[in-house]
Amino acid sequence: MSPAIERQTLPHPRGATDIVIGVDAIGAAAESFAAWAAGRTLFVLSPAPVRRLHGPSLAPLIAAAERRVEIEVPDGEAAKTVGECHRLWEAMLERGGKRDSRLLTFGGGTTGDVGGFVAGCFLRGISYVQVPTTLLAQVDAAIGGKTGVDLEGGKNTVGLFHHPAMVISDTRLLATLPPAELRSGLVEVVKMAFLLDPPLLERVEATLPALLAADARALVPVVAGACAAKCRVVAADPEEGDRRRLLNFGHTLGHALEAALGYRHLRHGEAVAYGLLFALRLARARGLEAAAAARLRALLARFDLPPLPALEPRRLYDLMRRDKKAREAGMVWVLPATLGRGVMVGDVRRREVLAALDAFLADPFGE
Ligand SMILES: NC(=O)c1ccc[n+]([C@@H]2O[C@H](COP(=O)([O-])OP(=O)(O)OC[C@H]3O[C@@H](n4cnc5c(N)ncnc54)[C@H](O)[C@@H]3O)[C@@H](O)[C@H]2O)c1
Ligand SMILES: [Zn+2]
Repeated sequence: MSPAIERQTLPHPRGATDIVIGVDAIGAAAESFAAWAAGRTLFVLSPAPVRRLHGPSLAPLIAAAERRVEIEVPDGEAAKTVGECHRLWEAMLERGGKRDSRLLTFGGGTTGDVGGFVAGCFLRGISYVQVPTTLLAQVDAAIGGKTGVDLEGGKNTVGLFHHPAMVISDTRLLATLPPAELRSGLVEVVKMAFLLDPPLLERVEATLPALLAADARALVPVVAGACAAKCRVVAADPEEGDRRRLLNFGHTLGHALEAALGYRHLRHGEAVAYGLLFALRLARARGLEAAAAARLRALLARFDLPPLPALEPRRLYDLMRRDKKAREAGMVWVLPATLGRGVMVGDVRRREVLAALDAFLADPFGE
């Protein structure tokens, strides 16, 4: 049986992030959290729905702070604006925030992104802890120190690297997540597992129904495996050089689909799932074995994705070219060379992408 609590450490240029994952990770982390928060003012940032559902779960952590200031943030992407940061900084200053104050984010990836950015800039940077409450935030957004907010012209366009002191991922919190949110987070797990950790892929395949039912125990090794995979990549490449770009597998088309659909209709992870299916086509043309591609398609077929609406290949292509992850040098595709190994490919011709898009849009799960 897998242990109920997993501990990991992510070293980064300014220290290390302690990551505690498990059924009752909050209880397991309470002592070290207390040492971090004792005698300080603790700002607790969370959106109303999360506080309503899970507010009392935080009690074992926040009791240790000398003074607690709870501040509500807007729910979802609406929290990620410069205006919202301004409001938070003013509120923190007014409520006595100092250089040695602490900040805790309690919510999904949006809360962590805005809270991390607010902590990173306030008085030139205060220490913060993330308690992520979505699967996507536990396996992806909370790990790696990227924080930031959106501008009208694009998502995550203003931000900085500011690693949390701790990430406390309690899998019991995921029980209230809508199934579509769980599925969306699991796609990111599958993305990492396919390129970085084949045994993790096997575990997802074997336990998918329990994972989709938010079984807190079944989720522990999966959250831990995905975190460990992301930590390995980030530790090797803390400030986003090439290796970290492996995490972009499925995201080139995924981002374009989200943009083409106006960020409605598909959740991020659902768009990435389609992006993975598309990347498989380009990878097959470069030697990925048929069996490996079929395996990923079969797993994603069990995710019950919402169908893709009609889309224009040329528009998707233009959106991919404009994506901020495409650099001056042009589009770089992250493709699996084999199961467990990804490569960056820069020489995919426009004609090939458009032909593959035609075939993909006609039959997303086809070979
Ligand atoms: N910093 C990074 O490296 C990184 C990586 C990936 C994604 N992100 C960012 O993460 C964000 C997406 O994160 P997300 O998917 O967690 O979205 P989110 O924060 O908007 O949460 C999704 C929804 O789930 C609800 N929710 C949260 N916890 C819940 C719970 N336990 N039970 C029931 N409902 C709950 C929230 O209220 C919200 O409505 C995006 O802004 C994206 O840019 C950042
Ligand atoms: Zn993603």
